[in-house]
Amino acid sequence: MTENQVLGQRKAGHIELSTQAQVDASARDQRFYYEPMLNPHPRPGSGLAKKFINHTLLAPLWISSMTGGTEKAKSINLNLAKLCAEFGLGMGLGSCRPLLKSDETLSDFNLRDTIGEGLPFFANLGIAQVERLVFSQQTDRIHELVKKLRATGLIIHVNPLQEWLQPEGDRLQISPLITITELLKSTEYPVIVKEVGQGMGPQSLLELMKLPLAAIEFGAFGGTNFSYLEHLRDQSGQREELLPLACVGHTAQEMVEFVNENLIRHQDEIKCQEFIISGGITNFMDGLNLIDSCRGNSVYGQAKAFLDRAAVSYPELVKYTKNQIEGLSVGKAYLHHRGVEIATH
Ligand SMILES: Cc1cc2nc3c(=O)[nH]c(=O)nc-3n(C[C@H](O)[C@H](O)[C@H](O)COP(=O)(O)O)c2cc1C
Repeated sequence: MTENQVLGQRKAGHIELSTQAQVDASARDQRFYYEPMLNPHPRPGSGLAKKFINHTLLAPLWISSMTGGTEKAKSINLNLAKLCAEFGLGMGLGSCRPLLKSDETLSDFNLRDTIGEGLPFFANLGIAQVERLVFSQQTDRIHELVKKLRATGLIIHVNPLQEWLQPEGDRLQISPLITITELLKSTEYPVIVKEVGQGMGPQSLLELMKLPLAAIEFGAFGGTNFSYLEHLRDQSGQREELLPLACVGHTAQEMVEFVNENLIRHQDEIKCQEFIISGGITNFMDGLNLIDSCRGNSVYGQAKAFLDRAAVSYPELVKYTKNQIEGLSVGKAYLHHRGVEIATH
């Protein structure tokens, strides 16, 4: 086909599709100014590198803690670790609780060789296990777990509502803040604290920001919600009236606002200013919006979005991630954040 024939075909396509291509003004993403004059096309991935918790990530993207301890989890985790190595990302493991009992499922979690030495790779335990070990003088078992996995450090998930709604859930005897403060007295590795889908309010965030944590992960409301998930698991019907407890929490946008306010008002008391903004983030535009809104040093995290692709195949996961990174690069070149007050969430 000649060049003119190709051009002619394209023009015909344009005319044909022009009716379908009408967009309503209400569909506009109002969070950014679009500035087409200021940059050439970017090379995908360029300019996205970010220093975060003393590591360099090639993009401000984090794979949030998910899974381990089941047959399916092993291949999912392997795919996620391979992805981190290929794209220079960081990841948190799902709860490593099974490894406190035995090494039977060690290979599900033992991914340091796959991810490589230079990237952040975190072990994960729930606050209930941490409380039990710390207050029974068994903190060494936590340190041994981190060492065994050659993990960068530990993520502690704090999930009191999930535990409450879980039919076989644990009951916390001590406030999470006291447990974490106690653990930090003996840790020589970075510690991150997160929620699992409800997020947390300004006071909890402030108290965490005063601790020498490596980072705080939001696990905000608006995506995967583990309290609701536990309600779904409970087939007995005995506790269905407790469901409203799964509906409280804070969105990632709201939590960014809490963080910003805490950073302005309590700067002198704050030791942790790094954040993984996660919970209900559906794509790179949300991620870009939230990172640009946050006064702390932040990356954005996704769990379910990666899980769905990792469960299909590695190529599917790569396609998704490539497009997120490409979108971030184009966004960085042509979008300017309007400021927190315009954000639409
Ligand atoms: C299948 C699955 C398993 C998860 N397991 C854990 C876990 O073991 N530990 C943890 O800290 N968070 C866990 N999470 C919570 C996520 O890390 C994240 O906080 C939450 O899913 C919100 O992110 P999303 O909306 O992008 O899915 C899990 C999430 C999913 C989807």
